[in-house]
Amino acid sequence: MSGATILPHGGTLVNRWATDKERQEWTREIKTLKRITLTRREISDLEMIGVGAFSPLEGFMGEADYRGTRERMRLANGLPWTIPVTLSATKEKERELHAGDDIVLMEDGDRPLGILHLAEKFTYDKEREAAEVYGTTEAAHPGVRVVYDQGDIYLGGKITLLERPKEIPFADHRLDPLETRALFIERGWKRIVAFQTRNPVHRAHEYIQKCALEIVDGLLLHPLVGETKGDDIPADVRMQCYKVLLAKYYPKDRTVLSVLPANMRYAGPREAIFHAIIRKNYGCTHFIVGRDHAGVGSYYGTYDAHYIFDNFTAEEMTITPLFFDHTFFCKVCDSMASAKTCPHPPTEHVTLSGTKVREKLAAGERPPKEFSRPEVADVLINSMRR
Ligand code: ADX
Repeated sequence: MSGATILPHGGTLVNRWATDKERQEWTREIKTLKRITLTRREISDLEMIGVGAFSPLEGFMGEADYRGTRERMRLANGLPWTIPVTLSATKEKERELHAGDDIVLMEDGDRPLGILHLAEKFTYDKEREAAEVYGTTEAAHPGVRVVYDQGDIYLGGKITLLERPKEIPFADHRLDPLETRALFIERGWKRIVAFQTRNPVHRAHEYIQKCALEIVDGLLLHPLVGETKGDDIPADVRMQCYKVLLAKYYPKDRTVLSVLPANMRYAGPREAIFHAIIRKNYGCTHFIVGRDHAGVGSYYGTYDAHYIFDNFTAEEMTITPLFFDHTFFCKVCDSMASAKTCPHPPTEHVTLSGTKVREKLAAGERPPKEFSRPEVADVLINSMRR
């Protein structure tokens, strides 16, 4: 049962939730099993796998899928897949664990979240993963840093999900893939565009969402609320921004706000493909990719996240990417625009660096309304005061 009109990646929506009976059995057995404590990223990945957001993955990757992903951007069976979804262990820990073991996956050492049915253990080359997936071996890259900080061995195998992580923020805006798919059917939407974001929605974001909304039935505003880097705006503040913006400027019956509990990897182009596949699993048919999607610093070219889609056919992706150039407000056009639609020089464009915007907000000053809606600016100013 896949719900909406687009099939999940690989054809079937994965569901790794334990049944009630299984949960009772595992609860009885848990005391006798070996355990490992998960990192924040692994906790998020566990939930994403369990609810089908990472379909067709049914667990943490084994070596064939890992190598295929890293080297060819494909799973061992040939399906497009660009980001390793892996579970690491230290060498000392690994010695206690054997293929065939059921291992309890713990949150903070005291809360069992799931079971790993360990199928294989393998070594990997951290620098090689960094270079191939993130395009850099620099530890300053926040995604690479996570790889360098984790254990030296990967543990592969299917998982069973027993519980959600302890903190479930934004419960009112938290739909699993099965639920978004059901909702789209209920609303009669056939063409749904997803928007990934880790920022407040500024005018440029709003413009590309609304351009897309002109040609589809509905918009899934799907902010990522898992771990982001320290200087990104916290998810609770962003959620307030989205709510005030949607309330005043978006058609209620054509917009859904729901969070994505995934962690950011900042893998730029490869993450754009990953983000698109995830949204396909949530039932979306279209996916917005703007400038420097999922980028950080100057590691990626402005449109690398567009070009990477050329490696995959429309038939194998099935979700349609909608590419947008860098957009801005043009004073002469008196509207939002991009180089594709505006003939005027950059001196006529309202563009502000992230640093400039932060400075203004910190001083209690709204950025120009051509850059950010005043309601959004006020939420950000208030959050900085706090
Ligand atoms: S991201 O890490 O989630 O990509 P962000 O929340 O800033 O960061 O961007 C969300 C989406 O909007 C991405 O597809 C990004 O490429 C796009 N985007 C952000 N700013 C602009 C802009 N000024 N013009 C065009 N696209 C943009």
